[in-house]
Amino acid sequence: MTTTETTFGFTLHGQDGPARTGAITMPRGTIRTPAFMPVGTAATVKAMYPGQVRDLGADVVLGNTYHLMLRPGAERMARLGGLHRFMRWDGPILTDSGGFQVMSLSALRKIDEAGVTFRSHIDGSTHHMSPERSIEIQGLLGSDIQMQLDECVRLPAGKPEIEKAMHLSLRWAERCRVAFGDQPGKAMFGIVQGGDLPVLRAESARALVDLDLKGYAVGGLAVGEPQETMFAMIEAVEPHLPQTKPRYLMGVGTPDDILGAVARGIDMFDCVMPTRAGRHGLAYTRHGKVNLRNARYAEDTTPLDEASPCPATRDYSRAYLHHLVRSNEILGMMLLTWNNLAYYQDLMAGARAAIRDGRYAEYCAQTREGWARAEA
Ligand code: GUN
Repeated sequence: MTTTETTFGFTLHGQDGPARTGAITMPRGTIRTPAFMPVGTAATVKAMYPGQVRDLGADVVLGNTYHLMLRPGAERMARLGGLHRFMRWDGPILTDSGGFQVMSLSALRKIDEAGVTFRSHIDGSTHHMSPERSIEIQGLLGSDIQMQLDECVRLPAGKPEIEKAMHLSLRWAERCRVAFGDQPGKAMFGIVQGGDLPVLRAESARALVDLDLKGYAVGGLAVGEPQETMFAMIEAVEPHLPQTKPRYLMGVGTPDDILGAVARGIDMFDCVMPTRAGRHGLAYTRHGKVNLRNARYAEDTTPLDEASPCPATRDYSRAYLHHLVRSNEILGMMLLTWNNLAYYQDLMAGARAAIRDGRYAEYCAQTREGWARAEA
């Protein structure tokens, strides 16, 4: 979806309580919100063609600084014409800054004022990344929405640790903002930290808003805390964020997490769940999760959902999907990923329409009722 936009903008089209629907407009296209961004960590949404991802209604995909700086390398990517051309995705791309992936994937990491030092999970080589280098790499990749470098603390954690990481993340946000400079068609988002402490969350949000960034993410959630804590943290942050800027909940989540976060004013999501689950034999459907590994599907001739327009969901029997999954066939992963991303995109399209029509609570209730009919 190419547009004639030359600057990054955000317009609200409707609100239903704190839930919002709108559009992020930028030179590479429009992102309809609330949006789910499929994760394309290593320059691929695993097991999907870019055209398929687009056809499902995804307006933006996510890439990862951490993975791409290690392989194929940021400078090499720039020489090859950037991530969009490399992976043949011409819509907007959001890149995560690398801090979170360092925490979750690499060994021997060290975090200090200067940045993060870490060992590659691929070959063990040592790398250093400052906030400025993270922004430089995201620029070399050609990212449209770049994230500040931040420190995310795994929960549970003590207040001193959470507070220290939150303040470091704030200082890094300022440095990233300076490094990013003035790029009218692109955006750099700040990331609210503060663990499970509402007071720290509010302080983090207010300080980031003072930096007048183009969007605000809520990070450090879905890291081991219960859903009610996650929702409470969104509620602690939301009143401090401007209505006029997009809000992005990082790394979330299940369909139920997403419905609840949209109800609390979140506009953007990313998560490996639909793609990863698809590679492990799990299907998300209107009627809840279906584990295709289960022997009960061995002779089940029904598709996942005969009413779906997605061929993966409508045209293949559960027996066939079960066989592919049990046989570890590549097509099993492709079909289930396709199904899962179709389900997530449909969920978001439904949410957008419901918010516009002022019936979001009803939409959530009906959707959850559908899941209740799932397998035990
Ligand atoms: N992805 C999920 N959570 C986070 C976070 O707190 N920070 C970053 N940079 N990425 C994330």
